[in-house]
Amino acid sequence: MLDRFYQEVILDHYRNPRGRGHLEPPKIVQEGMNPLCGDEITLELRVRDGVIEDIAFDGHGCAISQASASMLVEAVKGKSVAEAEEFLQQVLAMFRGDVEPDESRFGELAYLAGVRFIPQRTKCATLAWHTLEEALQHTNGQTP
Ligand code: FES
Repeated sequence: MLDRFYQEVILDHYRNPRGRGHLEPPKIVQEGMNPLCGDEITLELRVRDGVIEDIAFDGHGCAISQASASMLVEAVKGKSVAEAEEFLQQVLAMFRGDVEPDESRFGELAYLAGVRFIPQRTKCATLAWHTLEEALQHTNGQTP
């Protein structure tokens, strides 16, 4: 019953992705790829005064990768770069199995935590997050 609920949440993000599209410049653009399947994602961020004002993604991939990207948009929009960096490290630790998938901490992302026992699927779930990790390295808290 619970698993079915999780699946429905994931499919809802897949079918109705939050933040899919593009931002007007100026923006940071970062591409990422899952080397296991070749699926790609592009993240676009607008950072002003150290805050992620807006974020969007585009690309193609499986339901898990797209749902994870959609959840990422909801999770980090409005966060400071430092907060987003800290949160993404916690998310990656959750997918590694180092941190419990606490829903009060991770929200709907906790529903994706079942993939941490399946290495190929873990790559799908972390694709957007590793891409964000690279994108944040291009910020100094300011819009480029
Ligand atoms: Fe390619 Fe999941 S199968 S990202």
